[in-house]
Amino acid sequence: MEIRGPDGVRMELVVNGVSRVLHLEPRVSLLDALREHMALTGTKKGCDQGTCGACTVWVDGRRVLACLTLAITCEGRDVTTIEGLTEGDELHPMQRAFLEHDALQCGYCTPGQIMSAVALLNEGHAETDREIAEWMSGNICRCAAYPHIRSAIREVRDRKTGQ
Ligand code: FES
Ligand code: FES
Repeated sequence: MEIRGPDGVRMELVVNGVSRVLHLEPRVSLLDALREHMALTGTKKGCDQGTCGACTVWVDGRRVLACLTLAITCEGRDVTTIEGLTEGDELHPMQRAFLEHDALQCGYCTPGQIMSAVALLNEGHAETDREIAEWMSGNICRCAAYPHIRSAIREVRDRKTGQ
């Protein structure tokens, strides 16, 4: 087995479809790599220990906590952040629904909430309010915007299913 580090090593990450080469210590988290080394500050650092969900991104389409994921383990995988959800200047329907439903106050948790919310619909875990609450429970909102977050998710779900 090849041992890499502890000094900085070359790693190539594909983030939002763009390949980037970085030289980082293998202990650097995906969250710090995104925020400190790629200027992708949409992904937020709340607790930095896996309890708040503010750092939620997708790796190969599945939601993960970027603070608990080593950047080096993402080589050869597709990383998507909140910046990758927009199509040019067009907001993602979930981003629009959050605005329309006033699903935020301070907004700090919002990127993570939105990344989870879109994943939740793709996972098929948004049938009922109870299910939405359960599968969004890893994303804490200290402003308690939960009812509005759920109504934003319901709207996108219903539009998707034509209800
Ligand atoms: S910053 Fe990652 S879970 Fe809180
Ligand atoms: S909107 Fe403030 S923490 Fe969620």
